[in-house]
Amino acid sequence: MIVTIDGPAGAGKSSVAKLLAERIGFRFLDTGAMYRAVAWAVIEQGISWEATNQLETLAKGLHIDLRGNRTFLNGDDVSEVIRHSDVTTSVKHIADHAEIRSHLIVLQRKLAEGSDIVTEGRDQGTLAFPHAECKIFLTASMEERARRRWDQLSEKGEKVSFEQVLRQQNARDERDRARDFGRLEAAVDAIHISTDGMQLDEVVDTLEKLVREQMTNLSQDGRMD
Ligand code: DC
Repeated sequence: MIVTIDGPAGAGKSSVAKLLAERIGFRFLDTGAMYRAVAWAVIEQGISWEATNQLETLAKGLHIDLRGNRTFLNGDDVSEVIRHSDVTTSVKHIADHAEIRSHLIVLQRKLAEGSDIVTEGRDQGTLAFPHAECKIFLTASMEERARRRWDQLSEKGEKVSFEQVLRQQNARDERDRARDFGRLEAAVDAIHISTDGMQLDEVVDTLEKLVREQMTNLSQDGRMD
């Protein structure tokens, strides 16, 4: 069974998807981490963001793996470094690159082969797994999302203002929505959930209930036997 969770930055997708996967015993795929790992490799190698062919060659030669909640790049654990703000601001170049996106989608499908998964990103229910059995579109107001991101960054000791986080988030949302291929949008059959004012556990409870209902429906239809 495949559960997709898509939505804008800061809606809480990663935390929710991780906990949901743990509760229902599914594998968790953080697809944003894959885009971030490629961006990190580009920065490390000092390749220009404009060198689109070089970016593609580099991306296709990388070995990216998601194990548990960790992200590995050519065998190294890069889970922390890919969260730095220089990666966050430049990852758009990777997300906008159609060939790299196609390559990562193939990789996402390979990682999902033979497992029950909860996968989160922007295009999981639309492009990567259009036949997923359960699709969620997770949202929250602009302010709430920015506040959550700002709290996270402040906890890590990064000195940014709330206004700056809000501005960057809006720019990212706009770009994610405007992309020709792989734009942020809800699948037509996605269930929309707004997490405004909800605690993390409440959101996970809501999703767990939805997924378990869907599992029951599928097993009654004989699709999960
Ligand atoms: O969710 P995140 O912030 O870790 O994602 C990092 C970037 O990757 C973000 O700018 C959007 C992009 N992304 C994407 O385009 N498609 C996905 N399936 C996942 C992330």
